[in-house]
Amino acid sequence: MSIKTIMMKVFVLIAFLSLSNSKSNYMPNLPLGEYRIVFEKIYSCESTNLFQINVYFNKKTLSITELKGNFTNTIPFDDTFTLDANTASWDSIGGWKPNSVVYITKNACSNLKKVLGNVWNTLFKSFNVSNTSCPIPVGTYISTGVDLKELEDLNIPKEYFYGKYKLTAKIKNVKNEVLGCVVIEHSLVRPWETLID
Ligand SMILES: *[C@@H]1O[C@H](CO)[C@@H](O)[C@H](O)[C@H]1NC(C)=O
Ligand SMILES: *[C@@H]1O[C@H](CO)[C@@H](O)[C@H](O)[C@H]1NC(C)=O
Ligand SMILES: *[C@@H]1O[C@H](CO)[C@@H](O)[C@H](O)[C@H]1NC(C)=O
Repeated sequence: MSIKTIMMKVFVLIAFLSLSNSKSNYMPNLPLGEYRIVFEKIYSCESTNLFQINVYFNKKTLSITELKGNFTNTIPFDDTFTLDANTASWDSIGGWKPNSVVYITKNACSNLKKVLGNVWNTLFKSFNVSNTSCPIPVGTYISTGVDLKELEDLNIPKEYFYGKYKLTAKIKNVKNEVLGCVVIEHSLVRPWETLID
């Protein structure tokens, strides 16, 4: 069993125990459950830059923040690469702790498409990529801006621990070189919560 499988089982068990203990609570303050994603920061991290990611969050109006920027593939993004995603969780005492969620997979393009779910198509439309199939050809792709609210429809578990997280996603080749890297800082909040920045 992979670490991911074991962790998922533990989470499901905790979720089950928490839910069964709190049936009488009206609005239970559980440590985990259905969440909304609040995106906070996005920036590129160290890599050989064969995949250059220049994206940022732009506050368009009081209620709309969008993802803007561009990315450049100097080589096609295909299934010969490995996607290595590691989410650290923020602990007010210990700081960032890695491995809250670990997703390492071959066939980077196809699996990224699977995990992004509907967001893959939303992003492709926004970055003006004409063909949504893998591979993504060499080119520079520029976004007209996409509302962050449209980036929550991911193909990932719908319940998780609330808190502050930092996802580091790397594209690696067979030699384990990092060819592209992006960090997304975000929080998972209760559906009725809002965060004030
Ligand atoms: C891509 O984004 C970077 C950083 O914002 C910017 O400096 C560069 O001019 C952009 N490139 C294109 C082709 O728009
Ligand atoms: C989108 O890409 C096509 C080429 O694939 C180009 O002709 C068109 O100008 C692009 N649109 C925008 C808004 O950049
Ligand atoms: C999209 O790209 C895939 C893979 O490169 C190709 O097989 C397919 O024919 C393309 N589709 C269109 C509509 O261009």
